[in-house]
Amino acid sequence: MKVMIMGMDGYLGWPLSMYLSGRGHDVCGVDNMSRRKNVVEIGSWSATPIKPIKRRLEAYKEATGKDLTFYRGDLVEPSFVDVVVEKEKPDCIVHLGEIPSAPYSMIDVEHCNYTHVNNVIGHNNILFAIKDHVPNCHLLKLGTMGEYGTPNIDIAEGFFEVDYRGRKDKLPFPRQPGSWYHLTKVHDTWNLMFANKIWGIRATDVMQGVVHGVMTDDMVNDDLLTRFDFDEVWGTAINRFCAQAVVGHELTPYGKGGQTRGYLALRDSMQCFKIAIENPPDEREYRVFNQYDELYSVNDLAKYVSKVAEEYGLEGKIWNIENPRVEAEEHYYNPDMEHLPNLGFKPTYTLEKELHITLPKLMEYKDRIEAKRDSINPKIKWTA
Ligand SMILES: NC(=O)c1ccc[n+]([C@@H]2O[C@H](COP(=O)([O-])OP(=O)(O)OC[C@H]3O[C@@H](n4cnc5c(N)ncnc54)[C@H](O)[C@@H]3O)[C@@H](O)[C@H]2O)c1
Repeated sequence: MKVMIMGMDGYLGWPLSMYLSGRGHDVCGVDNMSRRKNVVEIGSWSATPIKPIKRRLEAYKEATGKDLTFYRGDLVEPSFVDVVVEKEKPDCIVHLGEIPSAPYSMIDVEHCNYTHVNNVIGHNNILFAIKDHVPNCHLLKLGTMGEYGTPNIDIAEGFFEVDYRGRKDKLPFPRQPGSWYHLTKVHDTWNLMFANKIWGIRATDVMQGVVHGVMTDDMVNDDLLTRFDFDEVWGTAINRFCAQAVVGHELTPYGKGGQTRGYLALRDSMQCFKIAIENPPDEREYRVFNQYDELYSVNDLAKYVSKVAEEYGLEGKIWNIENPRVEAEEHYYNPDMEHLPNLGFKPTYTLEKELHITLPKLMEYKDRIEAKRDSINPKIKWTA
């Protein structure tokens, strides 16, 4: 199958390109390299030293003999998206090419608007290019579990049955996002559902949990590594805790630390993508997958990182700090996840197992984390 990966140079896009190529798919991809630039903007860098895209592509060819086709360009430019989609005519587009940081979108009006224009317009351009050139293409669109927020009821997988004043309907599950970034993902969801309704675009809208880990089996040498960000803007809570443990800093959950989310290992996220790509929706179908392996609170994450860190001679003291975000710190959380397991998804890497791979790898780059340790403590606040 020909698969086009939007956001090929990113944390997920790079390992996914190798994973799919290694499993018989013809892979091409697009990126404007904005993630690299945006991390530099806030004074940080990836703990893993990632190679320029040209070297990544060469190293992959040397290691496997296979080619990955790459286009540098901006998804916000409709003519660029139109040209690459028409030229490649993919069977499936995996859309990862968005700005994924909640704190980045909360910095100020410029960062909020940049995230909105980048994410919503880039996605719309893909929808129009599919309609015009490959109407039967499967769009695998990355949303986030964060679209749902933390309601006090179970979270359905996209849709739920509602009985209201004696009438019944199947409606989209309510979205209650917690940042300007998460709002862009909700806007994307509505645009995708609308494009499906009017043009019949076949789509899988993936509500993905937080992905953790830095290694896949395809990373046979360091030129093939993916990025691992650990600063307050681009690093997830797990990444920040891992980095803190490596440099002997306390692990700092925000607030009471009861914020609970779905998590999955990088390798398992690759497996989920492959299953979704190889089992496309029916013609004109729009479907939603909730995608995670395990549920953890932020305090749980800190405890696991601390436990595993101690096995490597690191001290992982936990110190809860003031929460810069506006969010529930203790809440009910029980999302459904049936669609991927029904297609054969079996989680293989627990958080603890993956931490035994991630932490020793990060210890190799202790100096790089040490050099940017000030970037970990939160300075961006949700409130005025
Ligand atoms: N990593 C996670 O834990 C996670 C969890 C849930 C959802 N997601 C979603 O998955 C997707 C990928 O996440 P990631 O962690 O790999 O992020 P990432 O920032 O590492 O990757 C995104 C890539 O897209 C590129 N990009 C962004 N805007 C672009 C544009 N206008 N034109 C061309 N390229 C552009 C960036 O340069 C980057 O390389 C995002 O949509 C994110 O919201 C990620």
